[in-house]
Amino acid sequence: MVIPQAEGTVPPEKELAMFEQVEDYPVDPIMIGADYFAQDPRADKLNLTVGIYQDAQGQTPVLQAVKLAEQRLVDTQASKSYLALTGDAEYCRLLGQEIFGATYDDSWVAAQTAGGAVALRVMADLLAQIPKPPTVWLQTPTYGNYVPILTAAQARFAHVPYYDAIGRKMTFDQMMDGLKSAKSDDVFLMQGVCHNPTGAEMSAEQFDLLLDVLAARGIIPWIDLAYLGFAQSWDDDCEMARKIAARFSECIVCVTLSKSFGIYRDRAGALLVKTRPSDRERMQRAVSAIVRSGASHAPDHGPSVVRTIFQNAGLKRIWLDELGQMRRRVAEVRQQIVATEQAMFGTNTLAYIANQSGMFSLLPLSDAQETELTRDHGIHVVKGGRVNVARLGPNDIEKLIRAMSVITGPQ
Ligand SMILES: Cc1ncc(COP(=O)(O)O)c(C=O)c1O
Repeated sequence: MVIPQAEGTVPPEKELAMFEQVEDYPVDPIMIGADYFAQDPRADKLNLTVGIYQDAQGQTPVLQAVKLAEQRLVDTQASKSYLALTGDAEYCRLLGQEIFGATYDDSWVAAQTAGGAVALRVMADLLAQIPKPPTVWLQTPTYGNYVPILTAAQARFAHVPYYDAIGRKMTFDQMMDGLKSAKSDDVFLMQGVCHNPTGAEMSAEQFDLLLDVLAARGIIPWIDLAYLGFAQSWDDDCEMARKIAARFSECIVCVTLSKSFGIYRDRAGALLVKTRPSDRERMQRAVSAIVRSGASHAPDHGPSVVRTIFQNAGLKRIWLDELGQMRRRVAEVRQQIVATEQAMFGTNTLAYIANQSGMFSLLPLSDAQETELTRDHGIHVVKGGRVNVARLGPNDIEKLIRAMSVITGPQ
């Protein structure tokens, strides 16, 4: 109850002011990296922490297909009224069909979300609110925002090893071993292609083995698709999600189009959940309610751009071509890193980079070596050694390899 105070009376002095009691929150390592970089006075410093695609000039341009779609929207959009809480059903349907093909239909629970992060958060909230909440199993290392999102949702989670940065190899057997502790109806959160931060992919055989184990043990797959089109092609990169959907009666798919369309700030994403038919309407209402109380209506500009491109064969061709250019640049830089190391020192210690995909890889450095890389050489990486290979121009590659050689010594 609010007790009315006589006019002019001064409220009693409190022991602690309200915001004095706010605890110190951990800052995302990527944001810390950006701060350190801004404070570094060296002119030749190099920022490999960024999480976005950059061309050879270090730019992240707006794709031409996006510009053309935006122009169409300016010319034709008749209203900016609210959409449903779960967004534009046509955007979700087209996106579902682009990922899964004609087998995707309205039996899925779908929501347009503000990028991938909100799709992840809505799902984390939903899982945490199930009366017997499942444990979400995470690959380690993995996308740095999963733990904060699951923690904020008060969801349960546990880890299985995925990749050994110093050994430069995937720890598939340990991951499978770790999953032996998972219970039926637990959830395994994996990434689609271009794993962030490792760049390391399971082979098709490994992925099938993983799905065998998930199916046999009743573990629900949750796949997070953030870099579709950056590994082989949009179509090929959807294969993991397709295999999951074909095999499981319940599965969770989070999608962000930030990278594939270069529309980071426009926030286009989706949550797609395959359920049993009898659960569908209840689940759709649950998703709506969670959206309402949190992120609320998703912004529509980015999703409208994506929908416009999907709806128009000409725009789609331009976009796929631009996506191909981004993919080829990333693959070329990976090859250049390996070739440059071979030419400079011939140790082949970075050969693994050419076999990985997407924008990120981990450097095989200890914490102390990573600090040295930044302190002594002005090369900034995300804690844990993540580098964005798309940021590297030819001179940067030599600089990085020389610094790595000084730090790690002769191999
Ligand atoms: C694996 C992964 N999932 C989700 C996201 C979140 O994407 P968005 O920025 O669209 O929220 C990212 C962004 O870097 C990511 O790398």
